[in-house]
Amino acid sequence: EPSLREVAEPTGRFIGTAVNDGLLSNGTYSGIVGTEFDSVTAENAMKWEAVEPQRGQFNWAGGDRLVQFAQQNDQLVYGHTLVWHSQMPGWLQNGSFSAAELRTIMTDHVTTQVARYKGRVQRWDVVNEAFNEDGSFRQSKFYQQLGSSYIADAFRAARAADPNAKLFINDYNTELDNAKSDGLYRLVGDLLAQGVPIDGVGFQNHLIVGQVNGPAIRQNLQRFADLGLEVAVTELDIRMQMPADSSKLQQQARDYRAVADACLAVSRCSGITVWGVSDRDSWVPDVFEGQGAACPWDENYRPKPAYDALRDAF
Ligand code: XIL
Repeated sequence: EPSLREVAEPTGRFIGTAVNDGLLSNGTYSGIVGTEFDSVTAENAMKWEAVEPQRGQFNWAGGDRLVQFAQQNDQLVYGHTLVWHSQMPGWLQNGSFSAAELRTIMTDHVTTQVARYKGRVQRWDVVNEAFNEDGSFRQSKFYQQLGSSYIADAFRAARAADPNAKLFINDYNTELDNAKSDGLYRLVGDLLAQGVPIDGVGFQNHLIVGQVNGPAIRQNLQRFADLGLEVAVTELDIRMQMPADSSKLQQQARDYRAVADACLAVSRCSGITVWGVSDRDSWVPDVFEGQGAACPWDENYRPKPAYDALRDAF
């Protein structure tokens, strides 16, 4: 049987997964990542706390490991993420800086990281999770001190550091047309009108089994695509109340299929990344009490119905 990447490649879309670089030494894990996917996203290794644990001191070990793996396996790399309120290093989170200093800290970080991977990371989540659920800007340290202009500044710094990388803004609960995605839509329109270098919008798609509305997701992807931007499904997983059973797993397969169909129906939707290979490695049980089994492979790295559904979609 063909792999996911083998069926995806003729469609011109990428199929990716979040990768925990610490697991790449596990042959089963790295075998699946290398064979089934043609794009990889660092699950944590390219986040600010991992990359710049002390101000001006960069640790590229995890990111480099992933990029090297990707090159060996002829894969794209989706860079995640440059500016985000979460997983910031302590010196940044707890430090107090003037606005001018914080702006410099941010643009230096963006510049250094994008330059490091110039030509080797094709897409970047430049700004992650900038919105509240009501569509207003999240009161992150960056927003509080710099106002919304931090977003444009981050994109400009990224573009200058690698003119060929595609620059994304990424968020969750923006999959449907709602207050949050409306806020994102307004921002992106403003950025484009101001000539800010943005190329795409990422939709995380951390979803719940039985609550996936494929046509509504397609419609919302399309309205962003109609701005002339690339769109992508960047962190797909579909969780369920545990324990799993066969009817939930079948519903999950239909839900995965619905998301894949939505992307494939939008010509500017460049690809789909799942947020983890197997239920064993997924972030879901740690964060969503009582929920899990959100990935296409089970705890023993056996493909689930969701895997077949994904493959059938291409
Ligand atoms: C998650 C990782 O999967 C976890 O390992 C980590 O502990 C917390 O972050 N939105 C994002 C991702 O943009 O970076 C998050 O990843 C999941 C939610």
